[in-house]
Amino acid sequence: MCGIVGYIGKKEKLTKILSCLENLEYRGYDSSGIAYLKDNQINIVKKKGRISNLKDNLEESETTLAITHTRWATHGEPSDNNAHPHKIDKVTIVHNGIIENYLELKDKLQELGIKFKTETDTEVAAALLNKLYNDKKDVFEAILAFQKIARGSYAIGMLIEGDNNLYAIKKDSPLIIALAKDGYFIASDVPAILKETNRYITLEDLEFAKITENSLTVYNQNLETINYEVKVFESGVEQIDKGDFEHFMLKEIHEEDTVVKNTFNYYLEHLDEIPDITSYKKVEIISCGSAYNVGLLGKNLIEKYLDIPVNVQLASEYRYQKQFTNKDTLVIAISQSGETADTLAAVKLANKKGAKTLGIVNVKESSIARETSQVLYTKAGIEVAVATTKAYLSQLVVLIMLVYKSKKIRKELAEEEQLLNEIKELPKMIKELIERKDYYKIAESIYKNDDMYFIGRGIDYYIALEASLKMKEISYIHSESYAAGELKHGTISLIEENTPVIGVISNEDILEKTMSNIKETKSRGANITIITTEEITKSLDSDTNLIVVPKVNDLIEPILMIIPFQLLAYETAKLRGCDIDKPRNLAKSVTVE
Ligand code: G6P
Repeated sequence: MCGIVGYIGKKEKLTKILSCLENLEYRGYDSSGIAYLKDNQINIVKKKGRISNLKDNLEESETTLAITHTRWATHGEPSDNNAHPHKIDKVTIVHNGIIENYLELKDKLQELGIKFKTETDTEVAAALLNKLYNDKKDVFEAILAFQKIARGSYAIGMLIEGDNNLYAIKKDSPLIIALAKDGYFIASDVPAILKETNRYITLEDLEFAKITENSLTVYNQNLETINYEVKVFESGVEQIDKGDFEHFMLKEIHEEDTVVKNTFNYYLEHLDEIPDITSYKKVEIISCGSAYNVGLLGKNLIEKYLDIPVNVQLASEYRYQKQFTNKDTLVIAISQSGETADTLAAVKLANKKGAKTLGIVNVKESSIARETSQVLYTKAGIEVAVATTKAYLSQLVVLIMLVYKSKKIRKELAEEEQLLNEIKELPKMIKELIERKDYYKIAESIYKNDDMYFIGRGIDYYIALEASLKMKEISYIHSESYAAGELKHGTISLIEENTPVIGVISNEDILEKTMSNIKETKSRGANITIITTEEITKSLDSDTNLIVVPKVNDLIEPILMIIPFQLLAYETAKLRGCDIDKPRNLAKSVTVE
């Protein structure tokens, strides 16, 4: 993971360059550092903790050349010492990715007398680049040789002592170069530079760039210069501002009505872009985290409405299981960032097996978007909070539209007009759900607990999975989700007086059975909350904590059901004083396997 930002140009304040880096904190935030040119010397400052801590420890200064890094530790604990940049002799680098053969390289470099001060793979990369530069006396030759020797993934920003240019090297980790008014920025992702410019280029794998104060040249492996295309990022800078909201997560939840509307509208108007999935014998969905949970909802909907078997797999497991993927399989990869290393690797394998791969991705031109045979973009805009909310919902909308399109082709959309009317009404219903105040009261009754449980049956179990994940990732309450009927096979022994149990009931068909399971926990002292739909509330005990969601067509009901859980997690985490947008140890874009 990790985020990098570099700058070369007329002059820029160090704090401003680090403010760009702060927009990449979603990639990791356990330590950070900067190397900058001052009086022809490279100064390095590195600090454990957030970038704000680095800023507090930095002189107020300006520079013409700098590289910076925010870290999510992989090799070596988070510390001042292990933080990037790493400097060996003439070469200073920041790095995002993993050098897989770093131990073997380290041994060889140590035999040559090179001393290492950190446990990182990046310091080895710096040492290797430095050795190659000393041997070849040419930066380009050193980079080309490095790319032949180093295995793994890397986006590297590099400074060379006495050379005053900025070098960018890339393989399997994203790297862009932005064209600002008075210079250039390199960055792991577009949000870093949006306050400076919206014009940028994307480096492709094994390309590298030499950037001077007023020129940018990109080279391929044959040292030919590349004619790059300057792209313009459409979304506005307000996407990376919290505005009046206390947290990005809350802001992003408040954007859900618009996101759902935009995603539905786009795909209703561009139905031709959506593939007909009924032509496939089976569907596999691969994804991680919340994207895995939404994949399970997709499975339920595709199987229920289209009668096609769907296998949902954790992308991190996909390569290690027996696969039945072949040319008759549609493999759907769901990913907000489009950079999740496990999902990307699974897509590559599915492609090799001859399957058609379909990406459901939020970030344009991300690696997964480019690797899949077809991509359906979600219309969530930039999501900053590490815990996903609006992007998850937009993924769900795309899955619903896949079902909608295939049903339409089969001429099986019985109540199409009514469904379309409800889709039109959804944003209003979402807004009302978000503006309700009842989540706080329930959060107050659970926030002091250490453990809690979410239960549901059928599709409600998949909603419970996401509800529970949201709760534990941001509030740090140990939470588990259970298929309602499964709780009594062991885990009910953990229910004590006042243990919160949250039941999900979206459908009358499973009401009685799930209610029985809820009552089993209530008899053992559990503090019960039920999140359900209007029509079901009539049959419930009046003394239960209830959150009631409007009843709409079953195909779109999960959209409404998940929102109270997002807000419940938010309110609970807030009462517990947690760092909601940047939960400990997590990162939003997981580019390591
Ligand atoms: C991380 C994030 C999750 C996300 C998962 C998959 O674990 O913290 O919120 O669901 O990665 O990310 P992706 O970008 O592939 O959707």
